[in-house]
Amino acid sequence: MQPITPAGLDLLRSSLTDNNLVFLDGFHAVKHAARFGADIGLVACANEAKLQELADALAPDIAGELTSMAKAIDKKDVKKIGEMRSHWTGVWGVAARPTYTVEDILASPAPIILLENPQNGGNIGACIRVAAAANVGGVLLTGGADPWEPAVIRGAAGLQFAVPVANLETLEGLTRPIVAIDPEGDDIATATMPNQPILAFGTEREGLSDQLKSMANMRVSLPMKEGVSSVNLAVAVGIVLYSQALR
Ligand SMILES: C[S@@+](CC[C@H](N)C(=O)[O-])C[C@H]1O[C@@H](n2cnc3c(N)ncnc32)[C@H](O)[C@@H]1O
Repeated sequence: MQPITPAGLDLLRSSLTDNNLVFLDGFHAVKHAARFGADIGLVACANEAKLQELADALAPDIAGELTSMAKAIDKKDVKKIGEMRSHWTGVWGVAARPTYTVEDILASPAPIILLENPQNGGNIGACIRVAAAANVGGVLLTGGADPWEPAVIRGAAGLQFAVPVANLETLEGLTRPIVAIDPEGDDIATATMPNQPILAFGTEREGLSDQLKSMANMRVSLPMKEGVSSVNLAVAVGIVLYSQALR
């Protein structure tokens, strides 16, 4: 395997701050980016044998592509690269950031996830991951959290390349039916979901805003044992997407 060049190290470093690039944190993010057609500029690898093992076991469909692209990186260089964390897979990458638009997401016939002001990068990533698995039309975020930051990429295992994600500046002008997913809503088991819903989930601490609740066409809840106040945001997204209500 050829060693990474100084330009390659610069590319890795700049992918942490350049809005046109995505820093792919770990093998799974690199794998999903490659599988879903990302324009990958670099794959860096700290352990060639481990990359081969991971690629053979977890991505036999693209193992040759991944290993032939990879450049060897020294662990000392990994530590020097800004916020770049050590990843157990010893694999990192850089891809061009796709240009998803809110309009394209809203035009999808599939359900859309709206995360209102989510705070935790790992949680946001987990929401994107299950949203991609359930093949939704896209994930919109209010409140300005960056769906491309490394913690979100890691949490989503790079599945931002499989489902469009975008920041929504305003709730004004949404025309699709909104379903507020809220612990105080009606039991989801008996709810009849509208077609092409926007499924709106609230922020981790406070839940949905009064504005979103008042805009919603319906409010549904996931029934819980008495005394439990809520489930984790990403867990709620997963349950709703895989519940009978959407079938
Ligand atoms: C951690 S919860 C927020 C908790 C907040 N204290 C509340 O009461 O909404 C984050 C989001 O997950 C969803 N959620 C969590 N548990 C839920 C439940 N049992 N029923 C419906 N939605 C739930 C809601 O969208 C909620 O806004």
